[in-house]
Amino acid sequence: MEVEPEQTFIMIKPDGVQRGLVAEIIARFERKGFTLRGLKLQNVQQSFAEKHYEDLSSKPFFRGLVQYIVSGPVVAMVWEGKGVVSTGRTIIGATNPAQSAPGTIRGDYAIDIGRNVIHGSDSVESAKKEIHLWFPEGIVQWTSSLHSWIN
Ligand code: TYD
Repeated sequence: MEVEPEQTFIMIKPDGVQRGLVAEIIARFERKGFTLRGLKLQNVQQSFAEKHYEDLSSKPFFRGLVQYIVSGPVVAMVWEGKGVVSTGRTIIGATNPAQSAPGTIRGDYAIDIGRNVIHGSDSVESAKKEIHLWFPEGIVQWTSSLHSWIN
């Protein structure tokens, strides 16, 4: 039986887009060996941002978080590969950039928890939910013509 490949949802937040970090962030995921499955630049409606962060709706920072996400376009992506949810979180770094290790995206490019550049799903289950929410049209199916041993 073929095992479904693991996928995660990654979003470059408005500060990441406006600061010109899109290529750098994509490069980090590509070079690690993950495969890009979905990619789009889009503005986010307030109701959509609220839905994405619905689990945090009771938090005091929720309103500010939603305002930040709708403040400019974001880059929504689906990445695939072995352990991509957890390794993706490692590449991204701790939520608070003050505690994110150097070498992680937040550790290298952010100082403020409210402007922390990037989102990544925190579990396989939430990745499925987020991919479904952000890519209702589905994602591109393609098979690498490179040899399987490369990854
Ligand atoms: P959370 O899902 O806890 O973190 P992560 O993005 O690392 O999965 O929180 C979502 C976002 O909410 C987080 O990226 C930044 C913002 N946030 C704040 O602004 N203040 C806070 O105290 C926390 C915990 C999060």
